[in-house]
Amino acid sequence: MAMQQVSTISLLRNTLKQWRLTGDRIAFVPTMGNLHAGHIKLVTEARKQADKVVVSIFVNPTQFGLGEDFNSYPRTEKADQEKLQEAGADLLFLPAVNEIYAKHSMTAVTVPALSKLYCGASRPGHFEGVATVVTKLFNMVQPDISVFGKKDFQQLLVIRTLVHDLNIPVEIVGVETEREFDGLAMSSRNTYLTAKERLLAPELYRAICRAREAVYGGEQSLKSIERQAIKQLTGLGFMVDYFSICRSQDLQPATEDDKHLLIMVAAKLGSPRLIDNMSFAR
Ligand code: PAJ
Repeated sequence: MAMQQVSTISLLRNTLKQWRLTGDRIAFVPTMGNLHAGHIKLVTEARKQADKVVVSIFVNPTQFGLGEDFNSYPRTEKADQEKLQEAGADLLFLPAVNEIYAKHSMTAVTVPALSKLYCGASRPGHFEGVATVVTKLFNMVQPDISVFGKKDFQQLLVIRTLVHDLNIPVEIVGVETEREFDGLAMSSRNTYLTAKERLLAPELYRAICRAREAVYGGEQSLKSIERQAIKQLTGLGFMVDYFSICRSQDLQPATEDDKHLLIMVAAKLGSPRLIDNMSFAR
């Protein structure tokens, strides 16, 4: 079946209405395009869990800060369409900015407790932009399930929280991070890396793995594991924003009794800011 493509909310709703009449279960995968195997993994998971798969490509201006890469964010529509068609998506929603944000719109969705931490601290307004656009997209698509990557773990937590708090009737599915052969988490922003930086970039993942081994090995001081990782990464040329071992349920500092941990890292390597994480139980 050929994938349909629409760019207006009313055409989107027309198609969805037909599907709902025949009782189809609808899955939704929001993206900003420049699709790679990580995005496609979400579409494949959606395909498994629903009758119809809707994907959106929308580079959302409200989640980019001043001086961030909104204008230069890679836009690769044609290649994205082909990948989605091949992955079995049924409908691609590709709206323009003025279709999503009316001129005088005033409402925002925010999850303050989570949005101020980690990536939110260094990217003010970022998670409010994400929470607002995802809520709006949920209202447009009204999916039964929606699939997100664990690569953006904090984002996934923000979305799970807003869905719960606002009683949005959608099931959120989290999918494991897809990696390159050398462990680097796939990301649209990896294309900004120079050849030299690209060789160094998997050190982020290696640092996470070493930190996890140290926890497994019985090292009691999580702070000292964090300090050592930051020192190693800085020595390699990363500008570390944070390297943190925290509780996976709420991203608060982990105590000795916490079993479910998350190691999160964000660091700049040259121009791009890379993030990665790993959750595990001890
Ligand atoms: P984007 O960065 O395009 O990512 C879209 C989805 O793909 C997110 O759920 C993200 O976590 C997932 N993803 C990215 N890299 C991945 C990888 N290596 N493995 C598995 N999943 C991966 O995240 C956004 O867009 C936006 O913030 C959005 C949610 C669309 C709101 O604008």
